[in-house]
Amino acid sequence: MTAHYEVRGSVAVITLDNPPVNGMGLTTRAAIADGVERAEGDPAVRALVLTGAGKAFSGGADIKEFGTPKALAEPNLLSLITLVERCSKPVVAAVHTICMGGGLELALGCHYRVAAPGTQVALPEVKLGLLPGAGGTQRLPRALGVEPALNMIVGGEPVEARRLAEVPGQRLFDRLIDGDLLAGAVEFAETVAERRPLPKVRDLVATLPDAEAFFAAARARVAGMSQHFPAPLRCLESVAASVMLPFDDGIRQEREGFAALMATPESRALRHAFFAERAATKIADVPEDTPRREIRRVAVVGAGTMGRGIVMSFLNAGLSVTLLETDAQALDRGVAAIRQSYEAQVGKGRLDADGCVRRLALLTATLQPADLRDADLLIEAVFEDIGVKEAVFRQLDAIARPGAILASNTSTLDVDRIASFTRRPQDVVGLHFFSPAQVMKLLEVVRGRATAKDVLATVMALAKKIRKTAVVSGVCDGFIGNRMIEQYARQAGFLLDEGCSPQQVDRAMETFGFAMGPFRMSDLAGNDISWAIRKRRYIEKPQLKYSASADRLCELGRFGQKTGAGWYDYPAGKREAVPSPIVDELLKAHRATLGVLPRDIGDDEIVHRLVFALVNEAAHLLEEGIAQRASDVDMVYLSGYGFPLWRGGPLCYADSQGLANVVQAMQRFARNPLDDTAFWTPAPLLARLAAEGRRFT
Ligand code: NAI
Repeated sequence: MTAHYEVRGSVAVITLDNPPVNGMGLTTRAAIADGVERAEGDPAVRALVLTGAGKAFSGGADIKEFGTPKALAEPNLLSLITLVERCSKPVVAAVHTICMGGGLELALGCHYRVAAPGTQVALPEVKLGLLPGAGGTQRLPRALGVEPALNMIVGGEPVEARRLAEVPGQRLFDRLIDGDLLAGAVEFAETVAERRPLPKVRDLVATLPDAEAFFAAARARVAGMSQHFPAPLRCLESVAASVMLPFDDGIRQEREGFAALMATPESRALRHAFFAERAATKIADVPEDTPRREIRRVAVVGAGTMGRGIVMSFLNAGLSVTLLETDAQALDRGVAAIRQSYEAQVGKGRLDADGCVRRLALLTATLQPADLRDADLLIEAVFEDIGVKEAVFRQLDAIARPGAILASNTSTLDVDRIASFTRRPQDVVGLHFFSPAQVMKLLEVVRGRATAKDVLATVMALAKKIRKTAVVSGVCDGFIGNRMIEQYARQAGFLLDEGCSPQQVDRAMETFGFAMGPFRMSDLAGNDISWAIRKRRYIEKPQLKYSASADRLCELGRFGQKTGAGWYDYPAGKREAVPSPIVDELLKAHRATLGVLPRDIGDDEIVHRLVFALVNEAAHLLEEGIAQRASDVDMVYLSGYGFPLWRGGPLCYADSQGLANVVQAMQRFARNPLDDTAFWTPAPLLARLAAEGRRFT
């Protein structure tokens, strides 16, 4: 059952019932249409109420149907709304909790709308690179007023019904109903049952005093904000049509806009990211109903860079945290940094003073390991040294209560080995936060060999609570994100050997859409960190090839922003990266030792070598089962590595290029003797997909 039908007195009540949010897939649409026809044909029925069961009126279209024949199958959303609008008896939408997208468009097709005051109302299609395609851009401006409707359609953000009802002259809501919504809606339906003609939003006029000037100004503003995304401007044009054109012509323009946006790579990427985020929460062999452990008290060990950010992530979510250090000064510095960070947010108006006090009150700082005795989750963020980790985990094993979860924030060490330092490897998991941890969305959940399923279920749920995007990774060097980025960084190094400058590579990658190119990024993270990793690699994997230019840079002490110099100069401690003549000379000398004559390298080659390096490594990760699914890899890169959202992640991008073309490019790169030719053998999974004409995503 996706919608129920019942008659209360003289009012037919149609209740959408398609959990979780009454998405309007084909069967739901058909059930609503059936209900409307039944009510139409029943002489005892004088009016209809349309409402939603459970946690929503409706969250909108079923986006799994997008691009499939089901979305267009009759009754599609447009024809359902027309059916409702043409009903000869008044139809009242009774909306509550969530009324979004197609749900709001359906409500706008009803003759009357009543709402619970707290209802979240939105047309969020723009966030998927689309516009509301079932009349939303034509009816909302007529019902609510052009300017507030434009803001909602271009921004996509929810607004409470209470606030919308305050908009002067609005016709969106006829009544707000506190208390029993359905009873109130039925009563309202009875009072309007005989009123004719039936009011229709399509008959209202959307007006604006100086429409041309208004839209010209809005166009300039929206264009500036939505560089890489075509949808916001298209939304605007459609709203403009609601003012400039008759209703039916506006609907026609809206439909064309919807179809055009649907075919854009940007919308495809945004929809991919939307599904990827949801898919990432699922673990194949950990059912959704796996019991979870209760996490009320969190402990963080180590008050350094990462420890502080991790603490703040939990305080922000209202969890109490005990922070443990060995070093009293480090503890004081850590707590002071947390306080300063909150105070700075208060200063910028991003947090109120109460919020600051509330958060700090949840924090306990200690030098006594025994104070962690009651913690439900203990997260270690001490020095990246296996000996130090061993001491800490043995200590945590001795003091933590039975059933507590022990987590490590290690970025390179073996989580299975760390688990083996305890007598409870089933309770050990990796929680790899990214810096700054209170800001970055990504959390790699590293699943050890022995990690218990309820531990995984618990940390995945907790990640959601602290607003992180959690992606599960198996144990390997670098997990998903850093193992891939190492290949990307190696390519960046080879490009320097062959003739590029750091700024040329950075510019190409930033034009492609990365938040930061590889060299500016390395300067920010600290070149010494990757140097330490390379030194380890030279011993562990002597066959692996690296450009030595980064080592030469580090030998000069140019570790990046923190030393005022790296791949760029940072005069007077500023963050602005200035191209460095010293680095130019260093690269020239280095090329001379290699006997290389620099060549001109195009931006396309730069982008493809760096991005396809990510892609090939990702294919290995998928084949090894380190990553569960291709979309997880994309999620890691979108939420943790500044990969351009409108390209959907490295694997979505590879798909858009055609995997056969990707493989061909790799074969070309493999012929370059200055590159690591062995690396460019396409991973078997990639080769197979390309040969079969298939995609990753
Ligand atoms: P950090 O050097 O800033 O902080 C480490 C802190 O741990 C120091 O304050 C130290 O006094 C404290 N500590 C050492 N032994 C301790 C013990 N036995 N008990 C309590 N506290 C102890 O290091 P950072 O950068 O915060 O890194 C911590 C961990 O996070 C490392 O495993 C690192 O690999 C990982 N990580 C670091 C990232 C980064 O960008 N810095 C990103 C992701 C993970």
